[in-house]
Amino acid sequence: GAVRHYKFDVEYMYGEPDCQEHVVMGINGQFPGPTIRAEAGDTLHVILTNKLSTEGTVIHWHGIRQYGTPWADGTASVSQCAIAPGETFHYRFKVERAGTYFYHGHYGMQRTAGLYGSLIVDLAEGKKEAFHYDGEFNLLLSDWWHKTIHQQEVGLSSIPFRWINEPQSLLINGRGQYNCSLAANLVKTTLPQCKFRGNEQCAPHIFHVHPNKTYRIRIASTTSLASLNLAIGDHKLVVVEADGNYVQPFTVDDIDIYSGETYSVLLTTNQDPKKNYWISIGVRGRKPNTPQGLTILNYKTISASVFPTSPPPITPQWNDYNRSKAFTYKVLALEGTEKPPQHYDRRILLLNTQNLVGGFTRWAINNVSLALPSTPYLGSIKFNVNAAFDTKSPPDTFSEDYDIYNPPSNNNSNIGSGVYTLQFNQVVDVILQNANVLSGKNSEIHSWHLHGHDFWVLGYGDGKFEQGDERKFNLKNPPLRNTAVIFPYGWTALRFKADNPGVWAFHCHIEPHLYMGMGVIFAEAVQNVKRIPREALACGLLRKVFINKKHG
Ligand code: C2O
Ligand code: CU
Repeated sequence: GAVRHYKFDVEYMYGEPDCQEHVVMGINGQFPGPTIRAEAGDTLHVILTNKLSTEGTVIHWHGIRQYGTPWADGTASVSQCAIAPGETFHYRFKVERAGTYFYHGHYGMQRTAGLYGSLIVDLAEGKKEAFHYDGEFNLLLSDWWHKTIHQQEVGLSSIPFRWINEPQSLLINGRGQYNCSLAANLVKTTLPQCKFRGNEQCAPHIFHVHPNKTYRIRIASTTSLASLNLAIGDHKLVVVEADGNYVQPFTVDDIDIYSGETYSVLLTTNQDPKKNYWISIGVRGRKPNTPQGLTILNYKTISASVFPTSPPPITPQWNDYNRSKAFTYKVLALEGTEKPPQHYDRRILLLNTQNLVGGFTRWAINNVSLALPSTPYLGSIKFNVNAAFDTKSPPDTFSEDYDIYNPPSNNNSNIGSGVYTLQFNQVVDVILQNANVLSGKNSEIHSWHLHGHDFWVLGYGDGKFEQGDERKFNLKNPPLRNTAVIFPYGWTALRFKADNPGVWAFHCHIEPHLYMGMGVIFAEAVQNVKRIPREALACGLLRKVFINKKHG
């Protein structure tokens, strides 16, 4: 494969993602950041310079497994030190598998501030896709707040707790409309009709297509909070890829997409070529308070400025969880996908709860709320700097009589930085168990993302996971993914092989949830990790170790 070079300068800048001026995080003056495009087998060399004046930064390559380069995973406190203002860090890693990915900041809540972009890996030359298409385009979905991430972070870690609330806008490729609606003339709204010349930063990114062709739409959700539903007026979508893996094609009117997930869908432009059509996204899983995100699919047979004559597709009811489950359960591996091992070596049950720690509202896993240490785990584990984190591992399970249907009877939990140490090549099952929140009767959606691996999603269930539920596991064609949702009051079962030496975060991809401690750390065969660049680890308790030392 080739080596592809990118130079990324990360900075704060003024922008108008939703027509209101705010500070956004950009790369090379662009928001969203530049799209990275490579071929399977290529090596990416990204030279990242931190041009923020007061805070560190890192970039995580979401969905790229980083075999042999765990130090390039771009996760502050886990795989590397945050890159200090003015400093430059070289990411160098291989993209071994074709698919739809994205990249994003992984320090504090910088992803919420707009630090993200698309990462597309094409098949190596001479290889053929499992399906045919004539053209393709990219939809990078996100949500946007008018409060800065600093206001949001301080609110989340204050007493009294201040929730970030629902986003002001939904963005498609970094563009949304807060003050006006593209569909004002067609729907009930108090917003005025948007009027664009087209060169405004918040003008919708219109997608131009020819009639009677098939397009591959690559969709990635980097939302901070929102679970989304995407539909294209009058058109069917055929789902063919999820998180970089082929799936058994299935046809739907709309798709659900949770934060951290990617999909490819095929769209055939077989509708009236004298019309244009809406592409719409709307909020699911939380009571929405954000208008739909909209843009237009333009049949090149007519002008792009002709508005669709019918209203945008209606987003399904936010709390119609049976509908959400029906969609999610349809995602199954395409024949020929690697099958899961039939047995596990270790099972970890992870109870997701909302708790209080010293009066602060936090999320906890088996009663431990993750606090990231100042020395990255990759270094502290490899060099046995035991003072850098809690050396006691968090528990593999939780109390059998925990009542998931009610607020916790003892709502206190602990802050921790312990690690799950996995044996090299061990087959690990993780059962994610959802539960009721801190007060009231409610259980929220979470989408869990694993770094460094794909996992097989063996099954989902309602209520509490019970011995015997594993008989319902799908060992025949479970989808391989890197992100999986847990539904309210339900469980999700995952299986993966600990075959990638390194330290890997596994966490809820909802940014404020991770910020509030909703994650765990897996360490596997860290002794086998070689050639870690010194600048990746020279901070915290390791700073001294690396003075005058070229390599780890
Ligand atoms: Cu896309 Cu750890 O995240
Ligand atoms: Cu969550």
